[in-house]
Amino acid sequence: MADREKSLEESVWNALKAVRYPGMSRDIVSFGFVERVEVADGDVVVRLRVATHKPEAAEQVRREAEQAVAGVDGVERAHVDLHVDQPATRDPAAAQQQAVSADPELIPDVEHVVAVASGKGGVGKSTVAANLAIALGREGHAVGLLDADIYGPSMPMMFGITERPRIQGNRILPFEKYGVKLMSLGFILDIDTPVIWRGPMVMRGIEQMLADVEWGVLDYMIVDLPPGTGDAQLTITQRVPLSGAVIVTTPQDVALIDARKGLAMFRKVNVPVIGIIENMSGFVCPHCGEQTDVFKRGGGERTAEVLETRFLGRVPLDPRITAGGDAGMPIVVEDEAGAHGQVFHALARAVADEVAKQAGKPKLSIV
Ligand SMILES: Nc1ncnc2c1ncn2[C@@H]1O[C@H](COP(=O)(O)OP(=O)(O)O)[C@@H](O)[C@H]1O
Ligand SMILES: [Mg+2]
Repeated sequence: MADREKSLEESVWNALKAVRYPGMSRDIVSFGFVERVEVADGDVVVRLRVATHKPEAAEQVRREAEQAVAGVDGVERAHVDLHVDQPATRDPAAAQQQAVSADPELIPDVEHVVAVASGKGGVGKSTVAANLAIALGREGHAVGLLDADIYGPSMPMMFGITERPRIQGNRILPFEKYGVKLMSLGFILDIDTPVIWRGPMVMRGIEQMLADVEWGVLDYMIVDLPPGTGDAQLTITQRVPLSGAVIVTTPQDVALIDARKGLAMFRKVNVPVIGIIENMSGFVCPHCGEQTDVFKRGGGERTAEVLETRFLGRVPLDPRITAGGDAGMPIVVEDEAGAHGQVFHALARAVADEVAKQAGKPKLSIV
């Protein structure tokens, strides 16, 4: 493609990013509604695909997108195609019949939804999600934490909350602790129900935690996803309007293979990967101060490099982290002024920085 067309295409993406979904703060590019931009000389054709119950809102988006594109320097003719999908309904049987796509109306007042994911369980995904959410809150952002792990929702324990959520009218109130609004599948699902039966209930449970919870206006919602890259993860990844995903891994090579699978899953559904966090990276002996790399070291960094994503940082292995998780007080609360506090604040800043960058970057269509 000629350079001129390439730069025109970029200008068109930028113009589309100024178009907001009616009544919402987020733009249509970040929602993933722009399926394709085609440029041939001065002719531009844009294809939008929107999942909504309100076709008039989608039509308004189409008109505004067309105006925005027509206003770009160098564009002679602008045409915007619109395809409206029905959002998946709350009826799980019907939902299974429908194409899966993100529904922005589920959480209109949330600016960035960031998934924390891992290729397998036990790598510290929930620990990272909890501490990251709290650190982002302490950095001055309005933060929510959604525990969507069907296999082992652990936020009730990590936050030390044993009550049931309160209901106000027909809304569920999130818990608020350590400056974070919190909701977990653990508060909703009966954990003794076998996972295989929980499966079909999961999307309904997750939709309820998005749409029926009084989240209010949030800068970030951190989502603790179930580990792995199977159907359940893929469905949630597609259905929740994600801005990006953070992948947690341990440093050894076998774990990194799973991290790569996680990355591939997000790229497949066009969710930007914000970066990789290496957890359980090095153990500092509390007695002699010597560092041991229990699970090797540096694997996360190498993987990030190979897969062309950002290495966000590493979290050391420390029994205090385990103890904090079990006691309902995440380490970033207990050790705010210490080394662990610094680690998670730095991670929070790296995530915020990368999310802002991703939001400002034209999302090129995947071919
Ligand atoms: N950096 C760490 N140092 C020590 N223990 C950790 C660390 N990260 C996680 N853990 C512990 O490992 C266990 C698994 O972590 P968890 O966050 O539940 O993993 P996942 O959500 O990936 O299954 C928990 O007991 C947790 O407290
Ligand atoms: Mg977990």
